[in-house]
Amino acid sequence: MKLFDVYPLFDIVPVSASGCYITDQHGQQYLDLYGGHAVISVGHSHPHYVKKISEQLSRIGFYSNSVQNPLQEALALKLGEQSGYPDYTLFLCNSGAEANENALKLASFHTGKSRILYFDKSFHGRTSAAVAVTDNPKIVSPVNDGVNRTKLALNDAEALEEALKAGDVAAVIIEGIQGIGGCRVPEASFLQAVSALCKKYDAVLILDEIQSGYGRSGKFFAHQYAGIEPDVITVAKGMGNGFPIGAVLISPKFTAWHGMLGTTFGGNYLACAAGIAVLEIMESEKLVENAAQVGSYLMAELAKFPQIKEVRGNGLMIGLLFDEPVAPIRKKLLFDEKIFTGVTGTDVIRILPPLTLTMAEASRFIKALSKVLN
Ligand SMILES: Cc1ncc(COP(=O)(O)O)c(C=O)c1O
Repeated sequence: MKLFDVYPLFDIVPVSASGCYITDQHGQQYLDLYGGHAVISVGHSHPHYVKKISEQLSRIGFYSNSVQNPLQEALALKLGEQSGYPDYTLFLCNSGAEANENALKLASFHTGKSRILYFDKSFHGRTSAAVAVTDNPKIVSPVNDGVNRTKLALNDAEALEEALKAGDVAAVIIEGIQGIGGCRVPEASFLQAVSALCKKYDAVLILDEIQSGYGRSGKFFAHQYAGIEPDVITVAKGMGNGFPIGAVLISPKFTAWHGMLGTTFGGNYLACAAGIAVLEIMESEKLVENAAQVGSYLMAELAKFPQIKEVRGNGLMIGLLFDEPVAPIRKKLLFDEKIFTGVTGTDVIRILPPLTLTMAEASRFIKALSKVLN
């Protein structure tokens, strides 16, 4: 059997990794400024993370959600404290799309309504309702197309109020910082308006922090720059540092009932051990603060390049907008300078490194980029 060919692949085979570095089958080392698509938060193969998961596996790896699992409670407690949402409740699942799917379902159950408002250049995942509210018609199949939804322009509060006035809106879903949309940061005043309007028209505000959350922006959640408290927050990616885990953080105004949401694998022992280890490392190594500090340095240095039209983002979620196609720049960074970066569309390079990135590693990138661009 061959693999279903849906991914364009670089001819590189990573065989080991440590911190911000990946090593391939020939022993070549690469600086990882992509973090496997914003997933690696505490660094590759962090010893504490490896220990916690290994120890857990030797005790018990899996049972179903029909028995007590104290690790889920420990994870919820820790996440509530570290993220600033101690009074929210937690639903654990396995991926970003699944987190958004459950968030949308929860909003619809709660309001009894079905229309979802979403924004241009959004990405919320590839499953049913999540892909329907993703602004990319190419990946929305006919079976997804029936979801009742309306796309709006980002940062247009007037259009949002007009749409909410109809009274049929279950939820507004928005990314803390748009990832695949090119690291576009919603204006703080817009997020504040979205929050107020959702309250006024009784719609649920879902903040998708799957890519921008878990410290990546330099705060635990990117929306915390705007000082708002969404009704529902979705997380995944950095939460498990590569171990598949996603979650929905749910405001106390929602009431759960048995069977309302569910999953086989969500909240399993290994995922919880990974999630707890990540939070412990984030806390002890002050990684949110590091993301803010190294990110500010990077953004200031990148803004000096005349070839870069715009530097977007916050913390260690940075988009570099060019006037020219970026694929050749990314290739040179990868094959000549041995640095992984990401791209989105044809004109944005994305920097999504582990949150452990040091100033020295950041300045190595600045030097390499200067070589590639000049
Ligand atoms: C903002 C955002 N939401 C949702 C998702 C979907 O996450 P997953 O691929 O884990 O389903 C992604 C993935 O890139 C994302 O960036």
